[in-house]
Amino acid sequence: MTKAADRKVMKVLAGETVSPPPVWLMRQAGRYLPEYRKTRATAKGFLDLCYTPDLAVEVTLQPIRRYGFDAAILFSDILVIPDALDRNVHFVQGEGPKMDPISPEAVSDLDASGMHEHLAPVYETVRRLRAELPEETTLLGFCGAPWTVATYMIAGHGTPDQAPARLFAMQHPEEFGMLIDHLTEISADYLISQIDVGADAVQIFDSWAGVLGEVEFAQYSVRPVRRMVEKINRERPGVPVIGFAKGAGALLETYRSDTGVNCVGLDWTVPGGLARRIQKGGAVQGNMDPLRMVAGGRALDEGVDRVIETLGDGPLIFNLGHGITPQADPENVTRLMNRVRGVSRS
Ligand code: CP3
Repeated sequence: MTKAADRKVMKVLAGETVSPPPVWLMRQAGRYLPEYRKTRATAKGFLDLCYTPDLAVEVTLQPIRRYGFDAAILFSDILVIPDALDRNVHFVQGEGPKMDPISPEAVSDLDASGMHEHLAPVYETVRRLRAELPEETTLLGFCGAPWTVATYMIAGHGTPDQAPARLFAMQHPEEFGMLIDHLTEISADYLISQIDVGADAVQIFDSWAGVLGEVEFAQYSVRPVRRMVEKINRERPGVPVIGFAKGAGALLETYRSDTGVNCVGLDWTVPGGLARRIQKGGAVQGNMDPLRMVAGGRALDEGVDRVIETLGDGPLIFNLGHGITPQADPENVTRLMNRVRGVSRS
């Protein structure tokens, strides 16, 4: 029987260099896979897919069966947290997520008392996944970072620059701070609950970190993540945390030491020199441009080679710099796996 610490992704998270590097892809369960679209069609809506363990387990396992990734990521969404807070979350096909935008006055009324009950099907999914996954496959839990979740709660939908949340923080700093603090507490508890039912490690997605200025990044992105990491380290010592602050650029230089994360997720715009300096402190994850999975061919091969040349001599979890898109060709994932694993290097 494999111990959790023997799984390749766990070794890298502990700071070891594993060659060839273990690999998984953000959004590996998703619309680029015909079997996902088929299962998705049997669910009433996207959230029903997340809250039905039979279906969520199935779509989590689909890319593992097809490609043998080294990690599986729980199939769910970062917006189950606002949903658990009764913000009327729904996913409109082709339009993305929608919810009731929160007013400054409503922040103090947020009630998380029913959260764990609401999220019980997610915990059940994690439990079943650990039992059904191959022994050598790492199981990742996840949540959104407080800042990124707050951007959706404030705007009520996705926006290109998160102007509504940035403005809210300027005009209502006290209520905004309360919202961030509240999300910090419950998101840490949510990750701890995922750990308790079988997640080997967890990832915090701060997908909108890149729209913040330096001071706001420290206040609203770094500080809440640090507090989450501190709570997880205190209550579940030894469980690694991956932090993915997309678009943070030069501000990533001290992200590991400022937050305490074990592994720094890199998007594809992070320069190689900076990426290598970050890797001197421990594990990194990333960072091929996801569009190379649409382009395929030479663009894909060059992208893989560049990541491995830049970061392959240190602790690396090979991934994309953001989620794989619905337009990606499933055959290109096979090509990527073979190339990362050195089956076809020319
Ligand atoms: O395979 C995996 O990576 C696990 C599942 C996963 C999903 N969302 C499934 C999903 C994960 C880890 C997420 C995280 C997530 N969700 C983030 C952070 C990472 C990122 O991509 O930046 C964010 C910002 C969200 C919020 C969200 N969920 C948006 C903006 C959308 C709509 C855009 C879109 O791609 O449709 C979603 C929907 C969503 N989440 C889908 C999937 C597979 C597509 C919905 C569908 O199948 O109808």
